[in-house]
Amino acid sequence: MLSAINYSLLATIFLVLTLIFPSEGQLSSTFYSSTCSNVSSIVRSAVQQALQSDSRIGASLSRLHFHDCFVNGCDASILLDQGGNITQSEKNAAPNVNSIRGFDVVDNIKSSLESSCPGVVSCADILALAAESSVSLSGGPSWNVLLGRRDGLTANQAGANSSIPSPFESLANVTSKFSAVGLDTTDLVALSGAHTFGRAQCQFFSQRLFNFSGTGSPDPTLNSTYLATLQQNCPQSGSGSTLNNLDPSTPDTFDNNYFTNLLINQGLLQTDQELFSSNGSSTISIVNNFANNQSAFFEAFVQSMINMGNISPLTGSQGEIRTDCKKLNGS
Ligand code: HEM
Repeated sequence: MLSAINYSLLATIFLVLTLIFPSEGQLSSTFYSSTCSNVSSIVRSAVQQALQSDSRIGASLSRLHFHDCFVNGCDASILLDQGGNITQSEKNAAPNVNSIRGFDVVDNIKSSLESSCPGVVSCADILALAAESSVSLSGGPSWNVLLGRRDGLTANQAGANSSIPSPFESLANVTSKFSAVGLDTTDLVALSGAHTFGRAQCQFFSQRLFNFSGTGSPDPTLNSTYLATLQQNCPQSGSGSTLNNLDPSTPDTFDNNYFTNLLINQGLLQTDQELFSSNGSSTISIVNNFANNQSAFFEAFVQSMINMGNISPLTGSQGEIRTDCKKLNGS
């Protein structure tokens, strides 16, 4: 029989062991508290500095985390350059090439962290922290980011092509791509709210402007005044890479205007407006709620960012901590 004193000794040993060897698969907000206690403020300062010369960069960094997590989980696979063992990078996949940006800022953050705490902070965690800093510095909510992800050893270009939703897809397809990574309809609506900041090129919505689905007319779910503005900025003979604000009302601010825009048919991408304009869809009441209540949106967005950040992380001794986010160690 265990005496009370032996029992408490065993409990203490167990506690110490779990602190030294945290169980695999569990991210934690205090993961770097003894190895890189300033990690959050280092990332935040770098994002703040980048925002001073590029008002779009917060949006771009948030999108990087999304495109990372949807392919092989949140493992920084999107950051790997093509070359050597990486024969088909995710950077060169259709949803990313000539579109995704922010790699230079990630590299700056990594260099600062390598000076302060060499070999400690993963590139995958940098993406999660940079997304939070970007949102909170732009007027959105702040939250404790769960940490402890490790960096992957492969890239998956085919996976990026098939798993990241395209702006031309039906709501049913987009929903099933979210569900494939364990995210539900509330996550889809809340995370789409990230289109409250940043830009989109004409080529990603011009199919709505003149001859929508072969009808010879514009998308009927586009507000007519907004349509005229977009037709002017994206003429039929114009460049597909011209940029437009995703949120015409407050382009660089993280707020719930994305949802109030949807209520007046001012969603920019087809997949944005579909959340509100698909008859009978369960997304409609969620859009209404977020449009009427910014706190409800912020709360849901935080929870959904945590859900997204939890997609298949590598932990424990899996993967590695890259020294240079663009390359596998030793390559
Ligand atoms: C629901 C399915 C989604 C689709 C179809 C989609 C599609 C797109 C497209 C086509 C662009 C414009 C890219 C360009 O012009 O180069 C864009 C931009 C953006 N997306 Fe999404 N997206 C989706 C979900 C998300 C999610 C879940 C997030 C983040 C949580 C996000 C964050 C962003 C941001 C912040 C931008 C602006 C980036 C910048 O200005 O650099 N998107 N998205």
